[in-house]
Amino acid sequence: MENKLISGTQLSKILLENLKEKINNITNNRLPKIVIVQVGDNLASNKYIKHKLKSCEKIGMLSEHLKLDQNITQEELLEEIHKLNNDNKVDGVIVQLPLPNHIDTQVINETIDVNKDADGFSPSTLGKVMLNTSKIFPATPFGILKLLEWKNVELMGANVVIIGRSNIVGKPLANMLINKSATVTICNTKTKDLANVAKKADILICAAGVAKLITKDFVNKDMTVIDVGANFVDGKYCGDVDFDQVIDQVKLITPVPGGVGPMTIACLLENVYNLYLEKNK
Ligand code: GUN
Repeated sequence: MENKLISGTQLSKILLENLKEKINNITNNRLPKIVIVQVGDNLASNKYIKHKLKSCEKIGMLSEHLKLDQNITQEELLEEIHKLNNDNKVDGVIVQLPLPNHIDTQVINETIDVNKDADGFSPSTLGKVMLNTSKIFPATPFGILKLLEWKNVELMGANVVIIGRSNIVGKPLANMLINKSATVTICNTKTKDLANVAKKADILICAAGVAKLITKDFVNKDMTVIDVGANFVDGKYCGDVDFDQVIDQVKLITPVPGGVGPMTIACLLENVYNLYLEKNK
């Protein structure tokens, strides 16, 4: 089983070590800094933010957690973002999602300075991702591409099926794969005959947010499976793939936890470092 696993834990450690070394070598300048803005007290967000801050500490990146009241108005939140946009010592700003319903996520993503857009969620960054001219990539798709390249999974000409069409995973990932000359099919949970569409793929990427959606009916023996799911079921963390059922039926697979999750954090911090470099060129 071990040689079928694509370990995000392992690759993220390598990436974070590389970043740590680069940051260690900064001697004549201030260090890169990320500010993580949180509105309210979402439990999952608390956990993700804790991991992000811990990773920053490990690699010597400066970080600040700006935790704002659940009832902050959109105008007040925009004011906070403007302050961070104008702060020369801040390289990356992320606003942890989900936001409370009274705040328009799209307006927030459009307000973060594109030169500080560490999540890569702004329309401007996403447009550049589509055009293949961006240096910043949404962290989860960025991490998935790195995992595939690390394992020498051929992308050129590959049939890739993505289940999930979100703005932060499915859509940017499809564009990034198209730019690598893959043939991409974007599905969702309503796609007709989903299992049969998936089954024909060389690479199946599932970001549907439905626990154990992917059974043995969705896979084939030569397939690489990337599980983006992060579902909590009966107090246990599990992916969108029924791992125990498909492990013997596929070529390569990411585990949950220890697959895409740690890569997202490493890639986010790589984005911050790259934004810092751009600013200090
Ligand atoms: N919520 C879940 N994933 C993410 C992410 O990658 N960035 C932000 N800002 N919020 C999230």
